[in-house]
Amino acid sequence: MVAISSLFLAAAAAVVAVAAPGELPGMHKRQTLTSSQTGTHNGYYFSFWTDGAGNVRYTNEAGGQYSASWSGNGNWVGGKGWNPGSARTINYTAQYNPNGNSYLAVYGWTRNPLIEYYVVENFGTYDPSTGAQRLGSVTTDGSTYNVYKTRRTNQPSIEGTSSFDQFWSVRVNKRSGGSVNMQAHFDAWAQSGLRLGTHDYQIVATEGYFSSGSSTVNVGGSTGGGNTGGGDNGGGNTGGGNTGGGNCSAKWGQCGGQGWQGPSCCQSGSTCQASNQWYSQCL
Ligand SMILES: *[C@@H]1O[C@H](CO)[C@@H](O)[C@H](O)[C@H]1NC(C)=O
Ligand SMILES: *[C@@H]1O[C@H](CO)[C@@H](O)[C@H](O)[C@H]1NC(C)=O
Repeated sequence: MVAISSLFLAAAAAVVAVAAPGELPGMHKRQTLTSSQTGTHNGYYFSFWTDGAGNVRYTNEAGGQYSASWSGNGNWVGGKGWNPGSARTINYTAQYNPNGNSYLAVYGWTRNPLIEYYVVENFGTYDPSTGAQRLGSVTTDGSTYNVYKTRRTNQPSIEGTSSFDQFWSVRVNKRSGGSVNMQAHFDAWAQSGLRLGTHDYQIVATEGYFSSGSSTVNVGGSTGGGNTGGGDNGGGNTGGGNTGGGNCSAKWGQCGGQGWQGPSCCQSGSTCQASNQWYSQCL
């Protein structure tokens, strides 16, 4: 896709908050957006970005749900999730109906280095790996995902216009619901030499590019519902995690952070360093 991006020109955000009949003020208010905005809604971080060129209505629904409908010759991406991102296992269901070029993906950013990443679960008419070099693969959550890296030059980012890499896992057996073990993808990327930085946000995103469609996505846990305030819950990453190399995390892998249940040691040649409360990495 040509203009995969997330730009925060939070220009004059048009916010329409509608309380359903019988709802208490402030509880589960629907929030429909037609211009770019980020924030939290019902305990989930959300990000909605549009280049303003097409028609898109993005609505924060109750809990971890959002819906969107779009058309026209523009680019947009939005969804709900967490800030910061982590190696959590993400559960979601979706009714995803794209006509044309579109993705359904776990989507996020890191800083230092600045990386935009996608775990593509489903897509419309355009395969995002088209023309990209395959660096590896990982089999997790019921399918193989192929790993790619692409380069963006002077493009919009969470740090303004910049040049940065995009990391990709693209699911072979496309689907619109399930669990996504982010640890497995982060490990696969590390094994392909793709190094993430400090996590910024992480959402289950829908993206549209010169296309139309509709999408309703429910992000959250099959267990315990939404966690608030960005806190990971302790239940993630059970034995299925791909650890690839003994009991200690490989260089660039995660080795700590709140909720982390994986290794707290690093393979030789690297040491465990805290990036923040949520994430420590073997560097
Ligand atoms: C997703 O579901 C699994 C299994 O129920 C659970 O361990 C995990 O914590 C859930 N993920 C989130 C982010 O709630
Ligand atoms: C992992 O640790 C266990 C117990 O400490 C040990 O028995 C096992 O050999 C270790 N596995 C690897 C691959 O190092």
